[in-house]
Amino acid sequence: MKFAFVGKGGSGKSTITALFVKYLEKRVKDALVIDADINMNLSGLLSTRTEEKKFLSNPEVSRSLRTYLRGTNNRIKDVSQFLPTTPPGTGSNLITSVADNQLMKFCSPISKNPEINLLTVGTYDSKGIGETCYHSHLFVAENLLSHTVSDTSYHVVCDMVAGTDAFAYSMHLQFDGIFLIAEPTPESVEVCLLYLDLAEKSGVADLVHLVGNKIEDEEDLQYIIESVDKKPIDWLPALPNLKKARQQVRPIDSLLNEGRIEECMSVIESTGLRPRLKNQERIKLLEKLHIKLNEKPWVQSGYGNVCEQIDPQFVFPTRQEMVSSK
Ligand SMILES: Nc1ncnc2c1ncn2[C@@H]1O[C@H](COP(=O)(O)OP(=O)(O)OP(=O)(O)O)[C@@H](O)[C@H]1O
Ligand SMILES: [Mg+2]
Repeated sequence: MKFAFVGKGGSGKSTITALFVKYLEKRVKDALVIDADINMNLSGLLSTRTEEKKFLSNPEVSRSLRTYLRGTNNRIKDVSQFLPTTPPGTGSNLITSVADNQLMKFCSPISKNPEINLLTVGTYDSKGIGETCYHSHLFVAENLLSHTVSDTSYHVVCDMVAGTDAFAYSMHLQFDGIFLIAEPTPESVEVCLLYLDLAEKSGVADLVHLVGNKIEDEEDLQYIIESVDKKPIDWLPALPNLKKARQQVRPIDSLLNEGRIEECMSVIESTGLRPRLKNQERIKLLEKLHIKLNEKPWVQSGYGNVCEQIDPQFVFPTRQEMVSSK
């Protein structure tokens, strides 16, 4: 299933993503972790380093991945015609596992388990300063997610850009569970309210689950519940040992045994495993956004009529259907 961690800058998205990945490490066989934040904190938390040549922001990587996703889908005239909302169609290659060779070559291992890997969207390089939009790098991640078959046997875990950026294009549609991290501060709560409002307006409110973080006492928890008017599915305490562990570059694994972290991670996993949007419903929402994007002058002038990319015959298969058709 596809999990995203969102929230205000500094609320704890990367920390909770990393703890969740460490929790999954002992339990799942197949997982892709995506660092979709321009500030790329995740590899440090997961004690790894990704080579820049593997970043999705590298034009060769994005071209290669899109060439694969396109497969024989002739509705996409050329890989340069991919928009963030370009839906899969007949002939598209869909991703069902991190072990997919075409994906694996851009990943970095993050554990002893070879089937849990990190993919990094990347940042600006010196050539791009002053002329690159980070969204164009995220577009490739959006393509990858929209071409991923949601299934309980394959987890995708995504550490997102701070705030409500996911609503810029289609990122908010791409997950089975969106975990909105709330710190007990007015600033964090404000972002949560904004996020929930946008989620409601875009038809994905049911996918968003509140998770409290840095909770010091009952009052902190009550503050979040009352200010956001939504009960967190669970919460993490303020972890006194986290700062020292990070300063001393110690792996965060040991923290999993502290307090109630494992319990919280288990609630996050089980929530994401009960998706409220079917693959096919998601495609319909994606197509709606695609039609909307088609009206933009920059799309009309640069891409032509991208509505032709929508394949009315396409039915999103389940993983089982894909395996049995091979
Ligand atoms: N439960 C916690 N207890 C104590 N400190 C925490 C906790 N969660 C996160 N932190 C600390 O808060 C700071 C911000 O955390 P983190 O980097 O995970 O946030 P973020 O939402 O990913 O931020 P950004 O938007 O910049 O990517 C870090 O210094 C981290 O160690
Ligand atoms: Mg972060």
